[in-house]
Amino acid sequence: MRKILGLIASQRKLANGEILTKEVAGAAGDDCQLELIRLTDLKLEPCRGCYACLVPGKQCPLNDGLYYLVEKIKAADAIIISAPCYALGPAAITKLFGDRIIALAQFIDEFWNKPCVVIATSGIDGWEGYTLSALNATARFLGFDLKDCHMFIGALPGEGISKAGALARAGEMGRALFGQARQAGAGECPTCWSDIWKFPEPSTAICAICGQTASLVAGEEGIKWVYGDSRRMFDKEHLTEHFQGWLRGKVQEFLARRNELTIVRGRYKGNDTWLLPPRDETIDQA
Ligand SMILES: Cc1cc2nc3c(=O)[nH]c(=O)nc-3n(C[C@H](O)[C@H](O)[C@H](O)COP(=O)(O)O)c2cc1C
Repeated sequence: MRKILGLIASQRKLANGEILTKEVAGAAGDDCQLELIRLTDLKLEPCRGCYACLVPGKQCPLNDGLYYLVEKIKAADAIIISAPCYALGPAAITKLFGDRIIALAQFIDEFWNKPCVVIATSGIDGWEGYTLSALNATARFLGFDLKDCHMFIGALPGEGISKAGALARAGEMGRALFGQARQAGAGECPTCWSDIWKFPEPSTAICAICGQTASLVAGEEGIKWVYGDSRRMFDKEHLTEHFQGWLRGKVQEFLARRNELTIVRGRYKGNDTWLLPPRDETIDQA
C-alpha cells in the first residue's frame, strides 16, 4: 500500500479542497491509501526567528504540532497540498507552516523528491492572486517533487469539482502523482511554474519567485520568451547550502559582530509606546 498524505488548509468540512484531494488521491492508483491532516488542527505557532533549530540536532523550541507533521510527511509516499485562496493568497495556515522552513529544512534528505501535487481553490476566476505560485514555492522549498498543480474555481463547497473539466483535471493530477510530472504551462516559469514576473527593463523578465530570467525578443510572430539563467534556488545543493551553510554562517557572524550591532540597536531602545490589547476573559474563552 502506498500512503498519500493530504494536507488540507481549509477549515470548511467537505469543501472544495478536501473533495478535490480525495478525487486526486482516488485517481493515483488502487494501491493507495489517503490520510488527511487539517493543518489548523495542528495549532501551528508563528516562527519566532530565534534560529535555535539551526543548531545541528536541535529542534524548534515551539511546542506545537510541527514535529507530528514532520513524522507524517516522512512516513508518506506522496503529498497532496490543498489550500483555498483567501484575499488573493493561500489561506494563512499554509504560510504559518511554510514559515517554519528553517526547522523543516533539517529534514531535506527525508523529504527530498517526495511526489507532490498542489490543489488550490478560489471563488472567482481572475481573483486567484498569487495563491498557486506561493503554494508551489512552499512545496519546492520543502524539497518535494512537484508533479502537478491546478487552481480550481468554485465559491460554494462542492462547486470546485462540479465545474466543467474539473473532474478530468483532478484525474490527471492523481495519475501524475506517481507518474510523469507535467510541463510548465504557457506564462509559467519553466523552473518553478510561478506565473508572477518582474520586468526590470522592457525586454527582460525575472521570475518573482525563483529568479529565472528571460529575454523578450520581438519576432514576426510577436514577442518570444528566450529563457536564460535560473538561480536554481530549489535544487537540493542550493537549499542545503542556504539553510545549513549560509544561515549558520550568519548566526556565527551575528555572534562575532554582536557588540557592534548592539550599539546600532541601542539607539532605538527605550521611549517606546507599545500598544497591547486589553486582556479580556471573554475573548480568551472564545
Ligand atoms: C476570507 C476569505 C477570503 C477569500 N478570498 C478570496 C479571493 O481573494 N479570491 C477568490 O477568488 N476567492 C476568495 N475566497 C473564496 C474561496 O477561495 C473559495 O470559496 C474556495 O473554494 C474555498 O475553498 P474550500 O471550499 O476548500 O474551503 C475567499 C473566501 C474566504 C472565506
